[in-house]
Amino acid sequence: MRVLITGSSGQIGTNLALRLQRDGHTVFGVDKRQNTWTDAFPYLLQDLAGHYEPFPGGIGGVEYPQADIVVHLAAHAKVHQLVRQPHRALENAIMTFNVLEYCRQLELPLVFSSTREVYGDVHRFDEYGEAAADFAFTESPYSASKITSEAFIYSYARCYGMRYVVFRFSNVYGRYDSDLQRMERVLPKFIHQMSRGEPVTVYGGDEKVLDFTYIDDCVDGIARGIERLVDGRVTNETINLAYGQGNTLVRAAELIAAELGVEPRITQAPSLLGEVTHYVADIRKAHDLLGWEPRTSLDDGIPKSVAWFREHRAAHPEEDVPVTADHEGSRETGPVWKTATA
Ligand SMILES: NC(=O)c1ccc[n+]([C@@H]2O[C@H](COP(=O)([O-])OP(=O)(O)OC[C@H]3O[C@@H](n4cnc5c(N)ncnc54)[C@H](O)[C@@H]3O)[C@@H](O)[C@H]2O)c1
Repeated sequence: MRVLITGSSGQIGTNLALRLQRDGHTVFGVDKRQNTWTDAFPYLLQDLAGHYEPFPGGIGGVEYPQADIVVHLAAHAKVHQLVRQPHRALENAIMTFNVLEYCRQLELPLVFSSTREVYGDVHRFDEYGEAAADFAFTESPYSASKITSEAFIYSYARCYGMRYVVFRFSNVYGRYDSDLQRMERVLPKFIHQMSRGEPVTVYGGDEKVLDFTYIDDCVDGIARGIERLVDGRVTNETINLAYGQGNTLVRAAELIAAELGVEPRITQAPSLLGEVTHYVADIRKAHDLLGWEPRTSLDDGIPKSVAWFREHRAAHPEEDVPVTADHEGSRETGPVWKTATA
């Protein structure tokens, strides 16, 4: 298959592209940033949030290579940043619109990356099944951007016959997630801080329970979704992809400390505006439709993540600095094609 991945320089995009290549598929990406992890696949440097005229060959009048399916991962993916800068949430919706127009014109199926944030922070269920989403509980502009994107996708399926799979992810961690100056994710941030002997802050304290998903499980679910959407076995489904087990963030911090061999210094603080503080996914639908089982529990995933972090940090000692900035990384001027060199 020929798979177009938007957001291909990000954590999930990079892992997914490499996995699909290993499976024998042809991958090309689109992202507004350089890929700092690998040059193993070609991608286009392009800002997908522009107001573009519909153009059948590709978004923004750029001729893309032919594809069999699009995986749309590009987004501003930080809840707190979007509380402060809600225009980025609107950009998420515009990106999805541009991708949908491209898919509509070329009659391509779409896999979309939604989030557990669409369920809100309602503390009503032990586990959240896909039908539990109630948008009266929209918690943040980020959630709103994903709900908007889902709604656009469902409308394109109804009006134009577009085929889709929407995945709702939850706290994906592991390999290629340590670019903290760009993207403060909680587990790599804790690994970074504890490895430097710094204390960590758990917003939401003991009460915060999340469903942490190891990257390879997430990517395996997406890969299965891609195959089944293209061959017609699964069409127009919304599916939770998570481990299906709740863990407190405090416990995750303690596991990291144990793996690093340090004494954890944990400060608790009230949760931040817009945060989901309790979520455990019901993952039966992913099992039934995709034959998918998550393999890596948090207890197994933390050691893998710390091992990857150590290896990466040894090769990049310059990253051993305090996390201070909260910026987006440099925006490249595009569109510019980057060819694969590996
Ligand atoms: N990682 C998680 O825990 C998680 C959980 C739920 C949902 N998601 C969703 O999954 C997707 C992938 O997440 P990720 O963790 O890989 O995030 P990421 O930030 O690592 O990757 C997203 C990529 O999108 C790119 N992008 C942003 N704006 C763009 C624009 N205007 N034009 C082109 N590219 C643009 C970024 O440069 C980045 O490389 C996102 O849509 C995110 O919202 C992730």
